[in-house]
Amino acid sequence: MKIGILGAGHIGKALARLLAKAGHEVGISNSKDSATLRDLAHELGHGIKAFDREDAARFGELVIETIPFGKYATLPAVPMEGKIVIDTANYYPERDGQIDLGGLSESAFIARHLPKSRVVKAFNTIHFEHLEKQGDTVKPEGERRAIFIAGDDQEAKNVVTRLIGEIGFAAVDTGSLEDSKVQQPGTAIYGPDLTATQAREELKKLQGR
Ligand SMILES: NC(=O)c1ccc[n+]([C@@H]2O[C@H](COP(=O)([O-])OP(=O)(O)OC[C@H]3O[C@@H](n4cnc5c(N)ncnc54)[C@H](OP(=O)(O)O)[C@@H]3O)[C@@H](O)[C@H]2O)c1
Repeated sequence: MKIGILGAGHIGKALARLLAKAGHEVGISNSKDSATLRDLAHELGHGIKAFDREDAARFGELVIETIPFGKYATLPAVPMEGKIVIDTANYYPERDGQIDLGGLSESAFIARHLPKSRVVKAFNTIHFEHLEKQGDTVKPEGERRAIFIAGDDQEAKNVVTRLIGEIGFAAVDTGSLEDSKVQQPGTAIYGPDLTATQAREELKKLQGR
């Protein structure tokens, strides 16, 4: 699958490498001209290409947005229309400035800016160093590190679940984009190293099931 990544920082680089190693065609971008990323793309290897932001969004059949939350307004909505967009972002007011989310979850707020995209929240609860190292495609699903996902489009979540499995993790579904408040910074499941089995138990407690 062609995957375009917006953001070539900690998470963007880790996902680019993991997904390219898993056999996908990956293009990355930052906030500048693609020329600034050529060396990095070369270092990442696996045929990863450097793009301008809009071109990365156009290139991807699926797009990953992994830029600082406060830059959400620069996400190019039109080339991502109709596509699955994985949103990894977390809102930190001290980094991102004061933004009125209007009571929405962070990803529902992003999705409002991308109204024709199929937004799935994922990878926001795992530190990039763990993302780089903890995937294990040999382990059974329940014993793999959990990656929490959320979204309003079940088919899109199925695709993201498959990608997560391909890189050695296990997707654990927290529900709709609004439900994804349960996996935002400051919650009990934001950060800890949980297997999928443990993660599902934690979720049951948090959601009162
Ligand atoms: N770090 C983690 O462990 C971690 C874990 C889970 C989730 N997250 C979340 O994931 C997001 C990315 O985190 P990160 O740590 O990878 O960030 P980072 O290392 O600071 O990198 C951010 C990247 O986004 C690019 N960027 C900034 N504005 C952009 C724009 N308007 N269009 C395209 N690219 C743009 C930057 O490019 P320039 O260099 O050109 O500015 C840079 O490549 C954040 O919301 C963060 O909270 C981070």
